[in-house]
Amino acid sequence: MNAQIDHALEEIRRFRPSPEFAAQAVADEGLYDAARADRLEFWADQARTLLQWEKPFTRTLDWSNPPFAKWFDDGELNVAVNCLDRHVEAGLGDRVAIHWEGEPGDSRDITYAELTDEVKRAANTLADLGVGEQDRVAIYLPMIPEAVVAMLACARIGAIHSVVFGGFSADSLASRIDDAEASVVITADGGYRKGRVFPLKPVVDEALGKAEGGTVRNVLVVRRGENEVDWNADRDLWWHETVATASNEHEAKGFEAEHPLFILYTSGTTGKPKGILHTSGGYLTQAAFTHKNVFDLHPERDVYWCTADVGWITGHSYVVYGPLANGATQVLYEGTPDTPHPGRWWEIVEKYGVTILYTAPTAIRSFMKLGRQIPHEFNLRTLRLLGSVGEPINPEAWIWYRHVIGGGSIPVVDTWWQTETGAIMISALPGVTDLKPGSAQVPVPGISIDILDDDGTAVEGEGGGLLVATEPWPSMLRGIWGDPERFKETYWEKFGDKYFAGDGARRDEDGDIWLLGRVDDVMNVSGHRLSTAEIESSLVAHPWTAEAAVVGASDETTGQAVVAFVILKASQVSHVTDPFEASEELRKHVATQIGAIARPRQVFIVNELPKTRSGKIMRRLLRDLAEGREVGDTTTLADTSIMEVISAQVR
Ligand code: WT7
Repeated sequence: MNAQIDHALEEIRRFRPSPEFAAQAVADEGLYDAARADRLEFWADQARTLLQWEKPFTRTLDWSNPPFAKWFDDGELNVAVNCLDRHVEAGLGDRVAIHWEGEPGDSRDITYAELTDEVKRAANTLADLGVGEQDRVAIYLPMIPEAVVAMLACARIGAIHSVVFGGFSADSLASRIDDAEASVVITADGGYRKGRVFPLKPVVDEALGKAEGGTVRNVLVVRRGENEVDWNADRDLWWHETVATASNEHEAKGFEAEHPLFILYTSGTTGKPKGILHTSGGYLTQAAFTHKNVFDLHPERDVYWCTADVGWITGHSYVVYGPLANGATQVLYEGTPDTPHPGRWWEIVEKYGVTILYTAPTAIRSFMKLGRQIPHEFNLRTLRLLGSVGEPINPEAWIWYRHVIGGGSIPVVDTWWQTETGAIMISALPGVTDLKPGSAQVPVPGISIDILDDDGTAVEGEGGGLLVATEPWPSMLRGIWGDPERFKETYWEKFGDKYFAGDGARRDEDGDIWLLGRVDDVMNVSGHRLSTAEIESSLVAHPWTAEAAVVGASDETTGQAVVAFVILKASQVSHVTDPFEASEELRKHVATQIGAIARPRQVFIVNELPKTRSGKIMRRLLRDLAEGREVGDTTTLADTSIMEVISAQVR
């Protein structure tokens, strides 16, 4: 009966583009036709029209050595010039690039001319510090304009940035610095979050004490939080004493299209994060193409706001590279949605007249909980397009987003992609595609997606299977930093020359794609990717823990939540009398070891874990428990009665 009702609702919930929107839309049906007629020529055409090349390319794709793709590889470009100088040269220097809003309410408007100037100064500073082509620079900053400047300064001189989200711990930062062998770290004294200054420089100091490589020569520090920091005069430099006084003349050279642009770490199925490597020409082409067409960008009149932190791929592609390559005006906000009041985001939309908003379902669901009165205290009528990313958006949240935030009739695009894909892969095109809440819908023009069963056979009809990209795409990852074997194993071993994304999916009768979540041991908490193995190894690193199992349990607001089951060491059980205290201690431990986003929602102290005869933990049964369901089939357990014991302890 419920299924029938859902189905009926689905039928009703299909929205034609309004004729007014369609008439002014950037995208049109012709994009699909062109991509279908000649996929490679389509991308070559996008690369030529969207970007400025110092040396034009003559080759589009080299796939002679799969899975290592090369796009536009005999061409040369400078990514920073594409995001900055060329707009200034085109007479757009006075256009605002960034409306920056600090959490305490301070703000700055930065034009393209000013941003270009600042990036040139930062490029000169980095060069003075001996940063050369292909050298790695770690960036650990709050959401302040200097984060964008630091990234583009690296791009300008051909250095490779590795942005580490400011919420990650000293341990996480240290392991990323070591893995990439970074020579410089760019950070701030601190940043604002939830009305307080959170320290960053002290975390860098701690990380550098832990980093084993000893590769970091300098730490460049932006003053933001004005919190007290220790100073190592041989190593540390203030941004305002170096960048601010550096020359604003900097001649940028073109780099090969396959010149590495950045490394970004993401969680995989093992405990060790993967350094996803992206390069220049192909990445920028697809970031710019999708930013323009999926968000219907009219740079001369739109005010665009992507709420993601630059520490994630969404911030790389849709705060920095896509919007700036397209000459967009955007909002950059430092803080949290509810500081100092729960209407903060809507106040920002009103203040800057935001027209395009791109955010995550978890944020939308938490606003839904607070109710429509809060957004309705503000004027949101400038909004004309809404985007969603990070996890499936449930139809109820989609409808709420469209009605309460969007006023009822504007397009909502649900965009599926990954750190690895670099840019959007599946999404409706506003003004072209009929919209269907809950479905990410169709591959963007030039992208080939299929759904396969475990044996690699295409799933016909409406059955579910595994999502793959069947052809290389311009912004695809080029590898895992320092680990080509892991790159092949993780993504390419399963289906040969097809990219295995790690997501389940199904196609409905209209050919629209519905994402069904990860099929591996990767969780998605508030749109952020976390690995069960990484959290388990953090838990067992605690002196009290003997064994740990972690599952992602569905959660009304965050999509999934981390739930851990821990067996304490026999030697500890007598000291740890209060299980509540023990679980609090372990939750805190994970937050300090990895970062607050990894803090388990619950840690259950148990005496046993459900294992098969070969000793493999059956997480599926633990997930049943964590989600309050009847426990599923236990027949393959070594001891079939164990779940009753565990259930009793969890209750
Ligand atoms: C994983 C990638 C892409 C930027 C944010 C996350 C899930 C992402 C959607 C969506 C359903 C989605 C997938 C994917 N995901 N967008 N629109 N619908 N699922 O990047 O940390 O690399 O995570 O996020 O499971 O594999 P990421």
